[in-house]
Amino acid sequence: MTTLSKKILVTSALPYANGPIHLGHMLEAIQTDTWVRFQKLVGHDARYVCADDAHGTPIMLKARSDGIEPVQLIEEMLSAHQRDFAGFDIQFDSYHTTHSEENRYFSETIYSRLNEAGYITRRVIRQAYDPDAKMFLPDRFIRGECPRCGSADQYGDSCESCGATYSPGDLKNPISAISGATPVERESEHHFFRLPDFESMLKTWIGSGRLQPEVVNKLAEWFDSGLRDWDISRDEPYFGFEIPGYPKKYFYVWLDAPIGYLASFKALCNRENLDFDAYWKPDSKTELYHFVGKDILYFHALFWPAVLQGAEFRTPTSVFVHGFLTVNGEKMSKSRGTFIKADTYLRHLDPDYLRYYFAAKLNNRVEDLDLSSEDFVQRVNSDLVGKVVNIASRCAGFINKRFSNEIGDQLDDPALFKKAVDAGHSIAQAYENREFSRAIREIMSVADEANQYVNNRQPWIVAKQSSSDPELQAICCQGLNLFRLLITWLSPVTPSLAQRSSSFLCCVISGPGQWSNLSQPLLNHRISEYQHLLTRINPKDVEQMIADSIEPESPVTKSHLSDEPIRPEITIDDFSKIDLRIAKVVDAQAVEGADKLIKLQLDLNGQSRTVFAGIKNAYKPETLIGRHVVLVANLAPRKMRFGTSEGMILAASGIDDASGIFVIEPDSGAEAGMGVR
Ligand code: MSP
Ligand code: ZN
Repeated sequence: MTTLSKKILVTSALPYANGPIHLGHMLEAIQTDTWVRFQKLVGHDARYVCADDAHGTPIMLKARSDGIEPVQLIEEMLSAHQRDFAGFDIQFDSYHTTHSEENRYFSETIYSRLNEAGYITRRVIRQAYDPDAKMFLPDRFIRGECPRCGSADQYGDSCESCGATYSPGDLKNPISAISGATPVERESEHHFFRLPDFESMLKTWIGSGRLQPEVVNKLAEWFDSGLRDWDISRDEPYFGFEIPGYPKKYFYVWLDAPIGYLASFKALCNRENLDFDAYWKPDSKTELYHFVGKDILYFHALFWPAVLQGAEFRTPTSVFVHGFLTVNGEKMSKSRGTFIKADTYLRHLDPDYLRYYFAAKLNNRVEDLDLSSEDFVQRVNSDLVGKVVNIASRCAGFINKRFSNEIGDQLDDPALFKKAVDAGHSIAQAYENREFSRAIREIMSVADEANQYVNNRQPWIVAKQSSSDPELQAICCQGLNLFRLLITWLSPVTPSLAQRSSSFLCCVISGPGQWSNLSQPLLNHRISEYQHLLTRINPKDVEQMIADSIEPESPVTKSHLSDEPIRPEITIDDFSKIDLRIAKVVDAQAVEGADKLIKLQLDLNGQSRTVFAGIKNAYKPETLIGRHVVLVANLAPRKMRFGTSEGMILAASGIDDASGIFVIEPDSGAEAGMGVR
C-alpha cells in the first residue's frame, strides 16, 4: 500500500478547567488519539492538538467559592488534566490553555478582522441581573418554577422535569443561583457576530458531503428555524479576555475556545518550527478535523466555520461528532458511582482495557456508547487476553527454550500469513472511516484463525517428538508472525500493550509508516524472553472503581446528603487512612471577600492549624471560639486565595444549606490532640 503522505491537523474539544477529566472526556480523547495514531502508522504527517478551556462564568465562580484566584484554579486543573490524559496514553503534540498569549493574540486578530469586514454589530439588550452579586446572570444561573409544568428549581433555559425550553424571563418566581436574590432586568451593550451573513457559505460547506448524515439533518433543522446573530461579548465580572477598545467587556468563552485550537497549534509551531500559515491560510492543502461530542455540534458546525471564513482562515475539512458515554445503561451519576473520573479508573485498571473496549464499540455515527461492567470484563478478557496475547504465550516458550530465541528462517504456512496480511487492507479502511468496531471485529477474526492454526498444528505435541525440530520452529515462527500483525493493527488502540510486545518481539511496532512493512514476515530474527504482556481484568477491580467513584464531598459543602443512598461498603483499612483528631478553636474570623468562609485558628495539642470552613451562613465566627471540633488532621493542605487550609472540620448537613449546617462537637472532657475512634 503506497499512499502519499498527507499533512493532517486533528483536535478534540477543549475540556473545561472547572472539573476533572472523566470517562466521557476519555471516550472522545481515545477516539481521536486512536485515529491520529492510525494516521501516523500508515505514514501520514498527523498532529493532534488540544487545550484546557479556561474561561467563563462557571470557572470564575468555582475559583471564588474555592477561595482561590481563577489563574490558580486553571493552573491546578491544567496539570491534573495533562496527568490524566498521559495516564491513558493520549499522545498530544500540543496541550495548551485558552488563557494564553497565543490565544489572546488570535482572539483579538479574529475579532478585529471580523469587525473590519463588517461582521460585528453592537446593540443594547436587556438581561437578567443579580443586584446582590452585581453581575449579569447566564441562563444556567437562574432558577425558578417551570412556566409549563410548574416544577420547582428549574434552570433558566429548560425544564429537567417536562423538557420544556423557554427564556429566563418566562420562569415563575426566579432567583439567582449565585446569591438567591430576585433578578432584575438591566441594559447593556453587546457585540454580535452576524451569522446570517454566512448562510450561503455554510450551506455550501455543509452540503459538500464532508459531514455525517445525522449531523447534516440536525443542521438542516437549524437552518429551517433561521440563523440569528450570535452574542459574543460578556460584561464584567468575567474571567476571559477583555475586548480591545471596550473596557469591562469580555469575549464570550465560546468565541475564544475554538480559537484555542489555533493557539495550541501555534505553540507547537513555535516549538517545532512548523509553518503555521501552511495549515491555516484559506487555500491550505492540509486537512483539519475536529472531534467533538454531539452537545457542541452547533458551535463547531455553524459558528466556527463562519468565524474562520469571515476572518480569512481556512475552514475545517470535517467535524466528526460522537455520542455520549453512559455507564451501566444510565447517564453518569455521582451518587451511583458511575461518574468515573480518569484518575479513579487509573488507580484500578490498565488504560488499554478501556481503550480497547471503547474501540470495540465505536463507529462513525452519532450514537451513545454504554460502558457496561460485565461486558467490559468479558470483552477484554476474551479478546485481548484470551485471543491475542494467547497466541504469543503459546509460541514464545519454545522459541525461547529450544531455539535460543531464534525465530528461524521460514514460516510454516506462508499462504495463511499472506491471507492475514491481505485482511489488513480492509482493517485500514475501517480505521480511516472511524469504524473502529469493524476494525476490531476483523482483527479478532484473524486472531481466531491464528488460534485455530495453533490448535491444529499443536506445537506442544510436535515438541514432544524432538528437541530442536525445524517444524516446531516454523510453527512458532508462524504464530509469532501472526501475533505481530495483530498487535501492529491493534497498536493505535492499545499502545502500551504494543510497546511491551515490541520489546518482546525486538521489532518496531508503532513507528511512522510501520503498517506498510507488514507484508514482510520477521525471519532470521532474534526475540527476547517472553514476559507477561497483559493480565485478565479482575471483576473486583471494576467494582472497587465504582465504589471509589461515589463522591465523598466535604460535609460542609454537601447539599443533598440525606437524599442520597448510603455509599458502598469500605474496609477498615480504607477508613483508617483518615486521621481524626480533636482540636480546639482558638480564633475564628469571617473572611473578607468570601461569602461562606470562616477562617479558624485551631489548637491541635499545642500545634497550630489554620482551616477555612464553609460555615459562615450557619455560625457567627465569635460563637465558635473556645469550642472543640473534629479535625481531619491528615488532609492534604490546600492553597486558597486567603491563605492555606490545613485540614477540614466535620459537620453535618441536611438537604440544603437552608436546613442548616451543624459542626460536630465532641462530648465534654475531650481534649485537643485526642484521636477519634
Ligand atoms: N469547553 C467546551 C468545548 C470547547 S471546544 C472549542 C466543552 N467542554 S466539556 O468539558 O464540557 O466537554 C469536552 C468534550 O467532552 C465535548 O466534546 C463533550 O461532548 C465531551 N463529553 C463530555 N461528557 C461526555 C460524555 N458523557 N460522553 C462523551 N463525551 C462527552 O464542551
Ligand atoms: Zn416543566
